[in-house]
Amino acid sequence: MYKIAVAGTGYVGLVAGVCFAEVGHQVTCVDIDENKVNLMKSGVSPIYEQGLEELMQKNYAVGRIDYTTDYKSAYKDADAIFIGVGTPEQPDGSANLSYIATVARQIAESIEKDCLVVVKSTVPVRTNDKVEQFIQDFLVNDVKVEVASNPEFLAQGSAVHDSLHAERIIIGTESKWAEELLMKLYEPFNLPIVSVNRRSAEMIKYASNDFLALKISYMNDIANLCELVGADVQDVAKGMSYDARIGSKFLNAGIGYGGSCFPKDTKALENIAKQHGYELRTVKAAIEVNTDQKTMLYKKASKRLITFNGLKVAVLGLTFKPGTDDLREAASLENVPLLLEQGADIYAFDPVGAENFAKVHPEGKHGKGNITYVSNIEEALDGANVCFIFTEWGEVKSVIPRKYKELMRTPLVYDGRNIYNVTEMQEAGVEYHSIGRKAVEREVVKESRNLELQAVRS
Ligand code: UDX
Repeated sequence: MYKIAVAGTGYVGLVAGVCFAEVGHQVTCVDIDENKVNLMKSGVSPIYEQGLEELMQKNYAVGRIDYTTDYKSAYKDADAIFIGVGTPEQPDGSANLSYIATVARQIAESIEKDCLVVVKSTVPVRTNDKVEQFIQDFLVNDVKVEVASNPEFLAQGSAVHDSLHAERIIIGTESKWAEELLMKLYEPFNLPIVSVNRRSAEMIKYASNDFLALKISYMNDIANLCELVGADVQDVAKGMSYDARIGSKFLNAGIGYGGSCFPKDTKALENIAKQHGYELRTVKAAIEVNTDQKTMLYKKASKRLITFNGLKVAVLGLTFKPGTDDLREAASLENVPLLLEQGADIYAFDPVGAENFAKVHPEGKHGKGNITYVSNIEEALDGANVCFIFTEWGEVKSVIPRKYKELMRTPLVYDGRNIYNVTEMQEAGVEYHSIGRKAVEREVVKESRNLELQAVRS
């Protein structure tokens, strides 16, 4: 078993550290934030991720994982140091590498034995070449150091499972020594390993994420056309999915992709291409479609309602997807300010994301608008004039169509996640607008209610 240090305890770093400990390695996670370190030592995870705290507590109890701010002691005799710090997007779309540079310098000044530095953070192609050079430039002791690329593919909400049962481990190395060491570190996971050179590994990460983003934007584009021609995007996706070359995953049309990866990585790759004098047209198109898609429902509702001023608006779901408290690039962040600007009286529900959302949009007045956070959906729907669904949380999915009709003042629902069956919403008397499917307009609702009444009378 090996001695591993992990720099950064965000989604990538912490989950990697915990999983390496779980398979038997000796792990020290390094973070600059003392409070966060103390929190983790006490068994509390700084991020909401299923199964993570249990593994943190279990491995801490047996001494296989520890947390510290003292990077020197963590790095000095590590066999491998994994870098999992953030590479946030800069205003021009490129990745900010300052956190990586800081860690690289700390590593150079601390290591006292041969060491493999493994970059897990998503970084522009060729960054690892530069990180290696940077570390060597600042190296204090006479030791061998190499940099390997090992991109992370975990999805939030299933991070621990994704790491322990990854479909593939990508390792990008430039020497046999580095390749063999990384292979050994991953041996206990018993997962398929694809070994390539460093630049290809860096590229695999972007190419994979951007392909998935493209797939979603493609389906959203098709969904918008489906609405115009009277087709149903869910049926279209189902028909497509039987072709094994297309596959059945990531074909769900909706309110656009969010999160910490797809929006950032599409823009970063477009930027990398630009720097090399190339225009990555497919990725550019994916970004454009996604930007429009995020406010698609708001635009539809604006046409239907003329104004939101003084209306009670139920917002169900704030996070960029279920299973996480992360709001990064969530559709709610685009739509809620628009609604507030228009004077909406918002009642927002999210089982775990409300607290984070309230940090950006505190409860209370915002100009003409107002936002209240509620802990149960019924309170949000009660007397509401319109409802927006932005995240497909289980709690939201469990609301039966009849509830909207019973609780809302006007049963008018804009569903960005295609949760409901259109016919069932129509039968329940709900005016229902979703993505890429037939809209249940008010006339249709009235008509179906008339039919119902006739049926009762006859
Ligand atoms: C993604 C990748 O899945 C993961 O491999 C990578 O390491 C990081 O980026 P994540 O951002 O956690 O993971 O979430 P993911 O489940 O991929 O969803 C991203 C966004 O796409 C969400 O907003 C989700 O709602 C949206 N999405 C996903 C769709 O709109 N339709 C789909 O069919 C799938």
